Amino acid sequence: MSAFTFKLEEMDIKLDTEYIGTNFIFYDELNSTNERLLTDDSIKQHGTVLLTENQFVGRGRMGRKWISEKDLSLTFSILLTEDVDSKNINIVNLGASLAVAKSMENLYQLDVNLKWPNDILISNRKVSGILVESITKGNRFEKVVVGIGINVNQPVFEGKLLIPPTSVRKEFGRPVKRERVLSEVLNEFESILEQIKTDPKGVLDSWRSRCNWIGEKVKVINGSDELVGLFDDIDSDGFLLLQQKDGTKKIINGDVSLRKT
Ligand code: BTN
Repeated sequence: MSAFTFKLEEMDIKLDTEYIGTNFIFYDELNSTNERLLTDDSIKQHGTVLLTENQFVGRGRMGRKWISEKDLSLTFSILLTEDVDSKNINIVNLGASLAVAKSMENLYQLDVNLKWPNDILISNRKVSGILVESITKGNRFEKVVVGIGINVNQPVFEGKLLIPPTSVRKEFGRPVKRERVLSEVLNEFESILEQIKTDPKGVLDSWRSRCNWIGEKVKVINGSDELVGLFDDIDSDGFLLLQQKDGTKKIINGDVSLRKT
């Protein structure tokens, strides 16, 4: 056991939720926490959290890989089986990134920036990424899985990535407790899920206030398609409104990457 080993009892003290994390599962290693929650039908409880130290096939957005580091990152997924529908799934997606951002502000006073749809950046470097996947039956969401990877205590990063990475430790200046970060994210996420039911606009406003891309010229990349325009705003569903010469285009597909031009 190293000084960095995850200690469940330290997390329990800080977890203050009704349903998120009430069922908490830990695996030393597995293919992907998202994949497991989507495919294992024995795991049913709304709010189940599955945490691991190592994924063999960590999934990122747009078919990319997500690399976690044992004892240093946080790699987990949250299963939602209630209250998510086609009308609010995009807000849940943005809400997850908002939960991570708020946690880092609350705990470490970090200046966090959100990039549509759900990258979490500090000093233009990526500290956390989110992948929401779902299984639908007819027009009903049977399972929604919110997968979150956070770079917490990595002191350095090897190799070159599309968006340069950072960690909480690098930004805060010293190692932090992963248990504390995870509890805070789960607490914030549950309260955002509740707020989505009564005040989705408030959630979107909080997200918007942390996005310094609004008002900037951006390139929206979707495979080989590229659209350039002004990032005008997000709409009441959380979709990106891209202002172009011939009018405003709504970018619905979350499978895009955004660059400032
Ligand atoms: C991205 O920024 O590309 C999204 C990264 C999402 C990674 C997390 S780690 C936990 C969960 N399980 C996965 O396989 N992926 C997500």
